[in-house]
Amino acid sequence: MPERTSERIFVAVAWPYANGPLHLGHIAGCYLSADIFARYHRMKGNEVLMVSGSDTHGTPITIRADQEGITPKEVVERYHAMFLESWQQLGISFDLFTSTQTENHERVVHDVFNSLHEQGYIYTDNMLLAYCSQCDRYLPDRYVEGTCPHCQNTRARGDQCDACGRTLDPQELVGPRCAICGTTPEFRESEHFFLKLSAFEQPLLEWVEKQDHWRNNVKNFTRQFLRDGLKDRAISRDLSWGVSIPIEGYDSKKIYVWFEAVIGYLSAAVEWAEKTGGNWEDFWKDPGTKSYYFIGKDNIPFHSIIWPAIIMAYGKGLNLPYDVPANEFLSLENQKFSTSQNWAVWLPDYLAKYDPDPLRYLLSINMPESGDSDFSWSEFVRRNNEELVATYGNLVNRVLSFTFRNFDGKVPGVQSLDEVDEGLLRTARETMDSVSDSLYNCRFKAAVTQAFGLAQEANRYLDTKAPWKSIKEDRDLAGSSLTVAMQAINCLKTILYPFMPFSSQKVHEFLGFDGPVEDGVWEFDSCVDGIKAGAGLRQPSPLYTKLDPVIIEEEVERLGIGTSGE
Ligand code: MF3
Ligand code: ZN
Repeated sequence: MPERTSERIFVAVAWPYANGPLHLGHIAGCYLSADIFARYHRMKGNEVLMVSGSDTHGTPITIRADQEGITPKEVVERYHAMFLESWQQLGISFDLFTSTQTENHERVVHDVFNSLHEQGYIYTDNMLLAYCSQCDRYLPDRYVEGTCPHCQNTRARGDQCDACGRTLDPQELVGPRCAICGTTPEFRESEHFFLKLSAFEQPLLEWVEKQDHWRNNVKNFTRQFLRDGLKDRAISRDLSWGVSIPIEGYDSKKIYVWFEAVIGYLSAAVEWAEKTGGNWEDFWKDPGTKSYYFIGKDNIPFHSIIWPAIIMAYGKGLNLPYDVPANEFLSLENQKFSTSQNWAVWLPDYLAKYDPDPLRYLLSINMPESGDSDFSWSEFVRRNNEELVATYGNLVNRVLSFTFRNFDGKVPGVQSLDEVDEGLLRTARETMDSVSDSLYNCRFKAAVTQAFGLAQEANRYLDTKAPWKSIKEDRDLAGSSLTVAMQAINCLKTILYPFMPFSSQKVHEFLGFDGPVEDGVWEFDSCVDGIKAGAGLRQPSPLYTKLDPVIIEEEVERLGIGTSGE
């Protein structure tokens, strides 16, 4: 693998709507991959800034507030606090997780809006808005349903068709109806602001063609979207909840949520710089910085087309996305996640009962990376018991407790290496490189599978060497084998750290190290040299807990019962 010098990496993660708790589909969609990627780069010694925040505007928030009879602000505050707690418990290591409600965000959004307006990329025009005479109100885009003009899906919404993924305007729907009462809305004329997306069709096409490293699904989708032609889109709405329009005379309107939410990637970097004394321009204006946008597949056009168009229009030397590694969908027991039918595993519920690392492991090895994938409780229990407890956990526990007990709690040290020892160390060296390469290229499933291969290899090594037998005749030989095994474990702790940070921290401490595991280096030689003869170990304890298979049935039975109130 070629030596890479230190890099600067901006990790941008989709902003979740603060209108309900997160479920495993969200985690598999983008939060876990983003976190693995950020932890990997930090450990590699690269400079990382990972940001996101609560998406606090738009109809998802106001619908929730209406249902509960509370204010949008109360909704947002409740779920924002819940998100922060979930990130901490699951180990999603944001450098900043803010929200779109800050003054800083409003200031940055206004600056971008004004700049585009001055340059003519934002202009006013009259548009037709859906008005329901039965409900006596203007309907937000999502409240208009009808048939998608592109794919004939009869349940498309006025903002987007979930079947084909295209973004829509309500009046494009065939046979539109009010989602609340079913009446056919009338379209009334009203003045709004438009983003001149059409001006960017050509530049975007040229840019996308050059992105050879993008995932196929992202590149193909984006290309097709652009070939269908880019139309200017309205970026204001008749609403009272949202970011204000920085131009006089439009007090009854707000900026459309999608236009301002994506600007959060920029405003969050500015806020981070203000809070930490860091330099946001390093992450946004240095062309050597690479920015990665971790999102779910339903968000692709906003990140591969609309946000890049805004960046191009703004024109202040801001970096375009380097990559948009969007994941596909996760299903649950082979059915689509559904909030309304409570077909979901809610993250706070999971975290109240189980450890974070087994979930991180399962969702990594089963990531919906190049196609949809499924979460099932039986697979969760099986992989926990067979792979985490029986393979990796058992390896660590066997080696460390036996050494601790028989060698005075100290590293015995290596006398001489035979072929078997060298074989394991060679595999460890190669695996450190291959996992690194996979992670560098956002291939998370491959990376964790390769890392686990080393744990299996180390178990075979132990079975061959059987130090618990050799210790009876040749104490030095047994000590040597255990030391080599600990060197392999030190490599494993490093390469598994992005996936299972809590377990790696424990292993790090069992091996006698202090401080965070992330301070170590991703380097074979230093992982081997770190295990020094005579160095003190700590009393180990089991890394993982075996799960009783009865939980499979219990958890599956809970699905779909009750509703979350949506
Ligand atoms: N809140 C949106 C969703 O959950 C995602 C917004 S990503 C952003 O689908 F970049 F626009 F913020
Ligand atoms: Zn459609």
